Amino acid sequence: MRILIAGNGGREHALLWKLREDAPGATFHATRPNGGMAPGCHGVDISPTDVVALSGWAAGNRIDLAVVGPETPLALGLADRLRKSGVPVFGPSAASARIESSKAFAKDLMAGAGVPTAAYEVHTDADEAAAYIETVGAPVVVKASGLAAGKGAVVCMAVDEAVRTARRMLEGSFGDAGSQVVVEEFMEGEELSVFCLADGEDFVALLPSQDHKRIGEGDTGPNTGGMGAYAPVGFASDALMDEVGASIVAPVLRALGEGGNPFSGLLYAGLMITAEGPKVVEFNCRFGDPETQAVLPLLSSSLLEPMLAVAEGSGLAGHRPAFAGAAAVTTVLAASGYPGSYGKGATISIPPLPSGVHVFHAGTARQSGRLVTSGGRVLAVTAVNASFERARAVSRAVADAITFEGKQFRADIGWREAERRL
Ligand code: AMP
Ligand code: GLY
Repeated sequence: MRILIAGNGGREHALLWKLREDAPGATFHATRPNGGMAPGCHGVDISPTDVVALSGWAAGNRIDLAVVGPETPLALGLADRLRKSGVPVFGPSAASARIESSKAFAKDLMAGAGVPTAAYEVHTDADEAAAYIETVGAPVVVKASGLAAGKGAVVCMAVDEAVRTARRMLEGSFGDAGSQVVVEEFMEGEELSVFCLADGEDFVALLPSQDHKRIGEGDTGPNTGGMGAYAPVGFASDALMDEVGASIVAPVLRALGEGGNPFSGLLYAGLMITAEGPKVVEFNCRFGDPETQAVLPLLSSSLLEPMLAVAEGSGLAGHRPAFAGAAAVTTVLAASGYPGSYGKGATISIPPLPSGVHVFHAGTARQSGRLVTSGGRVLAVTAVNASFERARAVSRAVADAITFEGKQFRADIGWREAERRL
């Protein structure tokens, strides 16, 4: 079996690791693999956003399964191209990926399907956006509708700040992504990430997880791609997960299908668990990073089998994932300056790892035998343990022991869960 992974971040390293566990005899290829993926994984020197070249390469190299990690190639139609070239692919069409690539599309779809989410309006005119902001009042959230690398949502604590933000977006501060803005009501609660494998109709959920989006401890400072995660999440009971499935995931998949855009791939529901129940913050059309690095090490059944079932069209019936009865805590190590501009080329040293620890690489490269930093988020340290507290302590200790110049990480990943357990 020949498997291609499109993407080279921490999420893709975790996908590679899990698929390799599932199919040790397979041959693996990845686009420009990072320093941790490279050993034993063949590099393909094509950007995943070059959808024509990459799908041509995959067809020519008789790939049996292509797994697309990031959202941008999906929005550009990589999965459509691969399918057209006869390559089985795990990843949605560009049309169904609009659930992530157009927040306006996602909000209208949810409104039509009666899925709980924040009240909102979509605007292309700054004065009209301002008028709606006045009626909502602060706090209020202003979002660029298009893809903005996780930086397109601004939680505004004052009306004038929100009006300025909407105006800046519409004037082009986010490029085309901000040509439409979504203004929505602020939701109070705790966030939860729910990953569902979907085959166009049916879906199965993986373990719920929680991300840590802010750079600073105690969830302070600017938003990042994600500084850490843990799974499972104590408050995400079976009853809550059933409610999320029935009131959110199922109706959204149905609405996509009825609109002629059946979603096959990974549907990521980003939720706010409010006093009135779970509501959608956003949908993503792919696995989350760094939640994947926490969720996959707990998946005790195969990931490859359901992915193949989705990619080859046989469907998810009969595929029910199983999970280890343990906890995973993932701490991200970032380069100095991240999420702003950051340095590269610092030498990384990783000490011998205790059992139950996985170090997934993101922004790393090998340079004449040395492992060096090459991106903002550099490594993700996942510790798996029967005890959540132990997993948390080990993840932090290993994050502390790994060295590179300018290393920064949050030592408080999982703090909400830890406080709940007191
Ligand atoms: P998004 O890009 O839509 O995922 O938003 C990024 C982050 O902004 C989310 O993870 C939340 O922390 C926050 N956020 C977005 N929308 C809302 C909302 N309506 N209410 C409260 N927080 C929000
Ligand atoms: N961890 C958030 C994301 O992947 O979008």
